[in-house]
Amino acid sequence: MSFTVKNNVKWVGKIDWELDKFHGEEYSTHKGSTYNSYLIQEEKNVLIDTVWKPFASEFVNNLKKEIDLEKIDFIIANHAEIDHSGALPELMKEIPETPIYCTKNALDSLKGHYHQDWNFVVVKTGDTLDIGNGKKLIFIEAPMLHWPDSMFEYLTEDNILFSNDAFGQHYASEFMFNDLVDQSELFTECLKYYANILTPFSPLVLKKIEQFAGLNLPLDMICTSHGVIWRDNPMPIVGKYLEWADKYQENQITIVYDTMWNGTRVMAENLAKGINAGDSSVNVKLFNAGKYDKNDIIAEIFKSKAILVGSPTINKGISTAIAALLEEVTGLRFQGKKAAAFGTYGWSGESPKVIENRLKEAGFEIASEPLKTKWNPDNNAQKSCFEFGKQFVKKI
Ligand code: FEO
Repeated sequence: MSFTVKNNVKWVGKIDWELDKFHGEEYSTHKGSTYNSYLIQEEKNVLIDTVWKPFASEFVNNLKKEIDLEKIDFIIANHAEIDHSGALPELMKEIPETPIYCTKNALDSLKGHYHQDWNFVVVKTGDTLDIGNGKKLIFIEAPMLHWPDSMFEYLTEDNILFSNDAFGQHYASEFMFNDLVDQSELFTECLKYYANILTPFSPLVLKKIEQFAGLNLPLDMICTSHGVIWRDNPMPIVGKYLEWADKYQENQITIVYDTMWNGTRVMAENLAKGINAGDSSVNVKLFNAGKYDKNDIIAEIFKSKAILVGSPTINKGISTAIAALLEEVTGLRFQGKKAAAFGTYGWSGESPKVIENRLKEAGFEIASEPLKTKWNPDNNAQKSCFEFGKQFVKKI
């Protein structure tokens, strides 16, 4: 499959409807994904990125239907992560001398992955590549969006930014253009992708958008490496990135808990009732971390102005589901969010304090002392949870 993106630019990637986990088992992809590769055929022929390794043969065979591989003048490897570079070994067996344009950091990552001395050409921000017919590609390094090696390029005359991971989504669609798909699904996947992958690099996102805006280049389309192509006014997704990168929050409080015999769940539900009584405008959401998808919970935390995290005490510690979630949240370095901890216990009761310490390490501002309940919450304990929630929302 291939299709025309604009003029002499074609999409030659792979739509992966079956993908349900990405980054190993780290990221849930309920709606599949795509690995976008682009072929530009002007006086010079340029291939931008490839696809994930399992689809390498399919990719090269399809590419042969589009172009005699010997006629590819330049390959651009924007990023060495194998969802984009995975078909390079198969391709380079056929055209071993073709130059691969990449950043200096990509020399390290590409060689580290494939242990090959291909014909690398290192480029930096502002370097250009003349591709004929009055068009050129302008390279823009984009370190940490998503790896140190990442790079964008801009195609003049067609006014297309090839942004690699940035502005992408794990979202399979045969439509492949932003204006043709369900907008709610699209932006839900965009936000989840930003929250789970790009949040730690938010200051760099803001700087990169500012740098690109400073170049005063007309922008008609953004061709990402995952999901749909932004062809119909790409500015809304750029606007969303500006919002998301700037300590994003909605009027939402998320309660995440785990429970063994329902005591901590009862606490969570009464906390929610208290929050609602304290401020009914707040969107309160509850998630059992043991049952609900981790990455979807992270997207909800990203949207929240505050969170409450609860676990029963287990062997003087916390549940594995809450521990795993907090480990990931710590790495994501959310900013400007408040939090508190809660949990049930039978005898020693360490869990709320353990959670509070993890929340502090993760950069949350602790808004209330932790709340704990011995054994199952009785009516009085449930009232205490209700009051805690009511007071908590007033401190946010
Ligand atoms: Fe889509 Fe960072 O690779």
